[in-house]
Amino acid sequence: MIPSLHPLLKWAIDQNPLQIAGEDDMIIRSDRFLDLETPPELLNSWITPVPHFFVRNHMHEPSSLEAQTWQLTIRGEVENPLVLTLRDLRKMTSHSVLNTLECAGNGRAFHQPHVPGIQWQKGAVGTAKFSGPALRDVLQKAGVKANGRHVMFRGLDEIPGKVPPFVRSIPIEKAIDDDTLIATHMNGSPLTKHHGFPARALVPGWVGAASCKWLSEITVLEKEFDGFFMKPGYRYPNHPLKPGDPLNADDSHILTSLNVKSIIVSPTDESLLKSGPLHVRGVAWAGEADVVKVEISTDSGVTWQLAKLGRDHAKYAWRMWSHSWEPDKPGVYAIWSRATDSQGRTQPDFAEWNPGGYLYSAIDKVKINVQAS
Ligand code: MTE
Repeated sequence: MIPSLHPLLKWAIDQNPLQIAGEDDMIIRSDRFLDLETPPELLNSWITPVPHFFVRNHMHEPSSLEAQTWQLTIRGEVENPLVLTLRDLRKMTSHSVLNTLECAGNGRAFHQPHVPGIQWQKGAVGTAKFSGPALRDVLQKAGVKANGRHVMFRGLDEIPGKVPPFVRSIPIEKAIDDDTLIATHMNGSPLTKHHGFPARALVPGWVGAASCKWLSEITVLEKEFDGFFMKPGYRYPNHPLKPGDPLNADDSHILTSLNVKSIIVSPTDESLLKSGPLHVRGVAWAGEADVVKVEISTDSGVTWQLAKLGRDHAKYAWRMWSHSWEPDKPGVYAIWSRATDSQGRTQPDFAEWNPGGYLYSAIDKVKINVQAS
């Protein structure tokens, strides 16, 4: 269940909502570096409107970004190092990819025992249409040398003091995939500053951290980059650890594709409802795989019924789902959802604890209180 806010804290937030340009009704997880979570009830559409799309920043957003002067440098293991402007990118063929972007730490708040870090619950996830040139086309212009095996991204974040920059790399195979983009648009409009204006990497199906915002430099490397946000950051232990055990970075792997996962967006946890027919709704995604079924249980996992999958469907995008159900009588009920994907993965009853609190994907649960009508 979602740990609910103390009523006094909730009252204070309701009285003093923080106004953030371009963002509506979001949960503020951090305002030092802006981290905004979408309340689950706003994840009720196939495409998430930009003002409701979660924001994850490790550092300060760039204080000035000018479309006219912005440049993207491509260098490293390439035949012709390049500097491209936004106009150059606009002249290239644009592709669109509908992608569910999820932060690797989404659901960290539910890990037991507690894992330090941003306490995301369900809403560090959203689906948008990202558009821009294929990264492959840009790399082709520069001519990747035979020894170029990894592609590193650097953004224009402003680094607070002596912390390592948010620099990461992806393998060349994913970089030259048709669907990996240098996105300049989100849902048909230029990217907003919070989402990486004027251009970001879009690495579909992978943890959000792969999709570097405010892109300024692409460097082709012989080896995987090994800076802080690659090692020890964003790694998963190769073998299950006991809660509390530290990560041994040399016995771990870098996070890539997302897990299979479903969440219930309606009704919300702790809802008070009148008795009568109920439409349970949610979304389910599986990274680079397809969601093949979503099941619902209203008797704490004793029996499961198939939910109806929505018609909207795209390779890397979540499926909406719904299930009609009528509680027999007034009382407190738990509704559970679990998804299964085309790789045969099913959401487990409990998430595997790991020191980063990454890839939480246990079955989702909400508790409702049904009253006589
Ligand atoms: N890119 C830069 N330059 N700096 C960042 O802090 N955060 C990453 C990624 N790209 C980040 C970044 C993480 S952890 C996630 S989950 C996604 O951006 C979030 O994208 P969004 O803020 O557009 O939702």
